[in-house]
Amino acid sequence: MSTTKQEKIKFALVGCGRIAKRHSELLGNEQIENAKLVAVCDIVEEKANEIGRKFDVPYFTDMDEMMQSEDVDVVSVLTESGNHARDVINLSKYRKHIVVEKPMALTLDGADGMIEACDENNCKLFVVKQNRFNVPVIQLRKALESGRFGKLVLGTVRVRWCRRQDYYDQDYWRGTWAYDGGVLANQASHHIDLLEWMIGDIESIFAKSTTALVDIETEDTAVAVLKFKNGALGIIEATTAARPKDLEGSISILGEKGSVEIGGFAVNDMKVWNFVDGVNDKEDVLKNYSTNPPNVYGFGHKAYYEHVVDCILNNKQHLVDGLEGRKSLELISAVYESIETGKEVFLRFKPQKCKLGVT
Ligand SMILES: NC(=O)c1ccc[n+]([C@@H]2O[C@H](COP(=O)([O-])OP(=O)(O)OC[C@H]3O[C@@H](n4cnc5c(N)ncnc54)[C@H](O)[C@@H]3O)[C@@H](O)[C@H]2O)c1
Repeated sequence: MSTTKQEKIKFALVGCGRIAKRHSELLGNEQIENAKLVAVCDIVEEKANEIGRKFDVPYFTDMDEMMQSEDVDVVSVLTESGNHARDVINLSKYRKHIVVEKPMALTLDGADGMIEACDENNCKLFVVKQNRFNVPVIQLRKALESGRFGKLVLGTVRVRWCRRQDYYDQDYWRGTWAYDGGVLANQASHHIDLLEWMIGDIESIFAKSTTALVDIETEDTAVAVLKFKNGALGIIEATTAARPKDLEGSISILGEKGSVEIGGFAVNDMKVWNFVDGVNDKEDVLKNYSTNPPNVYGFGHKAYYEHVVDCILNNKQHLVDGLEGRKSLELISAVYESIETGKEVFLRFKPQKCKLGVT
């Protein structure tokens, strides 16, 4: 790419639905330093038109036409989860960098195809995991990297959100195996990614799920028991059947020398910061490392895009590339495999019964 430090990086969006509002506000209002929005595309013309007009950029109904006629440095893929692999693989031929929303794909074959296509075409592939950039999460990660927990014992995540039937009914793809998955693949994919990022590689998984309060193909509630390769244990608790409203999105990490819990509804509130190493930072961390975001997406997309721009301008390694994004997809696929087989699943494994992404 020929971008110099003086030029703004030119972003285009493919998919102008709900999450595109967040992406377009950040890029279109120039809230990200050294970045700007230059074009948008949606197969539904009025959606593309709405965002294109709002930010005064050309809009398209065909991504190939957009890529062929506009000067784009990075394209963000914001289509339905089950279409990410199709769209990223298609876009990679333009040899531009690609941002893809979570989950990166619904099948491991899809993820592998994306990684290969981007490698072949020399594009950086950025998978959106904005919760990694939450202010308290960054503090937790620093504590982990500096060894403050000692031996890791237990890591748990809870997603207790409220999604009613009308949420699932608003689009054809929500709650389907082919395009979305259930609470594990959609809402909890952030928290599952955080848990694995913090504690490490997984040895085995056992899981159960149910569809409790809505009429969808996939699960609205699931629990999983994890064993990590380093000997720690873990729990995933995920539901969109919390009523009457969102309760929490949280993570707890317990080690021999300390415990941290980040709660709030979007992993935004530092609740517990207890260490026995004599570093006197508890009051400061509890007071200064919480945020109060307006919705469950949190503030992380801004920090995420700043990271993307920094990595491109300064040729840095990005935090969540295709291989890193694939890790949590593999874990989620193993959870579904265990649900379908009723057995403990040991990683690595080849999905046989997992229905995620199967059309
Ligand atoms: N990071 C987060 O916190 C977060 C939050 C919400 C959604 N997401 C992810 O973002 C993705 C989109 O979710 P959403 O809620 O915006 O869905 P949505 O249904 O509102 O939007 C998807 C859009 O993609 C368009 N589209 C489909 N095929 C296309 C094509 N070939 N070319 C151009 N446009 C096409 C659709 O017409 C639709 O407007 C999902 O993968 C979801 O998991 C991430």
